[in-house]
Amino acid sequence: MGFNDASINYFYSSDHRKGGDLKFVREYFKNREFEKLLDVASAAGHFAKVFNAKEKIITDISLNMLKTAKDKNGFEKLVGGSACRLPFKDSVFDIIGCRIALHHFKKPKEFFFEINRVLKCSGYFVLIDSIVDIDDGYLNNIERIRDKTHIKSYTIKEIVEFSYMFRLLTFQTIFKKHDFVEWAGRLNPTQKEFKATEQAFINLTEEAKKQLKVEIKKGRVVSYTDKKGIFIFEKVKE
Ligand SMILES: C[S@@+](CC[C@H](N)C(=O)[O-])C[C@H]1O[C@@H](n2cnc3c(N)ncnc32)[C@H](O)[C@@H]1O
Repeated sequence: MGFNDASINYFYSSDHRKGGDLKFVREYFKNREFEKLLDVASAAGHFAKVFNAKEKIITDISLNMLKTAKDKNGFEKLVGGSACRLPFKDSVFDIIGCRIALHHFKKPKEFFFEINRVLKCSGYFVLIDSIVDIDDGYLNNIERIRDKTHIKSYTIKEIVEFSYMFRLLTFQTIFKKHDFVEWAGRLNPTQKEFKATEQAFINLTEEAKKQLKVEIKKGRVVSYTDKKGIFIFEKVKE
């Protein structure tokens, strides 16, 4: 099952509708009102809701996600398309957000280039995604078992390299605990697929389980905790 079939789950998802990352960004921009905002790979639009902006445009590759954002969160300006080839003119947005989606993009360098292109000079780019340590390929492996569209969660160093054209204003790491049943079931897997994701956690080394704070009760995975990086960038030149 893909994003189109699971769009409603992303509206109700506790991982997406709340979190320390949303609180951090809301607090950071609490005294700011922007003219024109773009939320890239918006899903149901939970990230776009955090900002004060006169005009909010959301974009996603899944049209059902955009429909859910309209029906459930009241967004009206919806644009279907790929994050790596944004259908907008140059230098039009004052602020752009992209939360928990970079790991899906096949061409991350093009994505950063596109954000820079459509952002106004001195505009903000707020990026949030799962980050991995150098040696934890195991989390990427598990993500790929759960979600066939998972390409790669990056290290902080890789993200800093992708974003060379921006000025990094702030960086913050937060830990996010995931309810396993909700997380592993979000894309409507078959029982066999669900079990494969669970087994991948059970098969981790004790050291890896400790790092991911994997909670197992009576042989069943209850939760795990990963890291999200919050990057606030500024566009420095045209
Ligand atoms: C985890 S959800 C995003 C959550 C959302 N940003 C939020 O904060 O609630 C990932 C989204 O990325 C979208 N997506 C995946 N690949 C994409 C691409 N290449 N371009 C645009 N959107 C993409 C999916 O359709 C999905 O809606």
